[in-house]
Amino acid sequence: MAASSELAILVACALLLAAACGGAPDDVPELEIGYYEETCPEAESIVRAAVSEAIAVDAGVGAGLIRLLFHDCFVQGCDASVLLDPTPSNPRPEKLGPPNVHSLRGFEAIDAAKAAVEEACPGTVSCADIVAFAARDASYLLSGYRVDFTMPAGRLDGRRSNASDTVPSLPPGSATYTELVDNFANKGLDAEDMIVLSGAHSVGHARCSTFAADRTAVDGDADIDPSFARSLRRRCVQQAENSTKEEEKDDPTVSQDAVTPTELDSQYYSNVLKRRVLLASDAALLETPEAARMVRDSAGAGGRWERKFGKAMVKMAGIGVKKAGRHAEIRTNCRVVNH
Ligand code: HEM
Repeated sequence: MAASSELAILVACALLLAAACGGAPDDVPELEIGYYEETCPEAESIVRAAVSEAIAVDAGVGAGLIRLLFHDCFVQGCDASVLLDPTPSNPRPEKLGPPNVHSLRGFEAIDAAKAAVEEACPGTVSCADIVAFAARDASYLLSGYRVDFTMPAGRLDGRRSNASDTVPSLPPGSATYTELVDNFANKGLDAEDMIVLSGAHSVGHARCSTFAADRTAVDGDADIDPSFARSLRRRCVQQAENSTKEEEKDDPTVSQDAVTPTELDSQYYSNVLKRRVLLASDAALLETPEAARMVRDSAGAGGRWERKFGKAMVKMAGIGVKKAGRHAEIRTNCRVVNH
């Protein structure tokens, strides 16, 4: 065989291998920036308007929308399976899985975006793409426009949604560093993606029931700043006492980032370094010298983390995308599969 054709085969193999390994975010297969330019040119601006309206009422919905993309993509791929409501034929969809129930929010903002998009271009824009656009827009708005990236589209909606898929796919707040790295690796994301995406914990809240037992026990050995643990204990009690909402009384919530609670920013990494974070999985990012180096790297100002976050969101939004087949469709209503 001539040397030049051997070289060509070698190059082709290397390219195939890189594609199979996931590669950089720009390699996300099959999705396109500006996918709806011809078929529904207003799609992205309609979604942004709906997200902006929802965040103006409650910034927490923005946090919910960022998380919704994570919980959608890690379970059955980015196919809007997380949005499906229970039905007699499918009484336990993902929504009711332990990591999601009483915890996920933002569904109404997705409904509003979908309704407006359907009015403009019926049957054209998938719910999975709306979830991805909404997470991008919430990141943009909550970061004061500093997390600014384009989101490729062209996903279809799935028809399977099963609560039992959630626990094996989503890492718990008690996960160790190795567990987190393994979990993300299963989805084609590396340790740096995991650390960069964890920065989303600079917005939104967590329920005291998810972290209090292992992080704020009086004689606990959790790796947490003791004065922060004390303030968390106090805030959980006060929140339960003062809240007018029934669910908050039963299971109060506290902001993940006590310093800039509604801003998506790199403050999270300073909190990690000071051991002032809620979850064991946040504290775990100092478990190895290599992870701690990445945390310090993201803690700096100058937009470094903001750029990396955008890239990692696009990479995450490319997990297990459905493009065709019997089990893929564009739903009319994001909460129910088409008949
Ligand atoms: C690294 C592994 C991760 C673990 C173990 C984890 C775990 C958690 C837990 C336990 C909560 C609190 C839920 C509750 O108490 O109701 C939470 C909240 C949140 N997570 Fe994560 N998470 C991880 C990664 C991510 C990623 C990749 C994103 C998005 C890019 C994300 C975005 C959020 C947001 C925004 C909230 C607040 C939600 C709200 O206020 O409604 N998380 N996470």
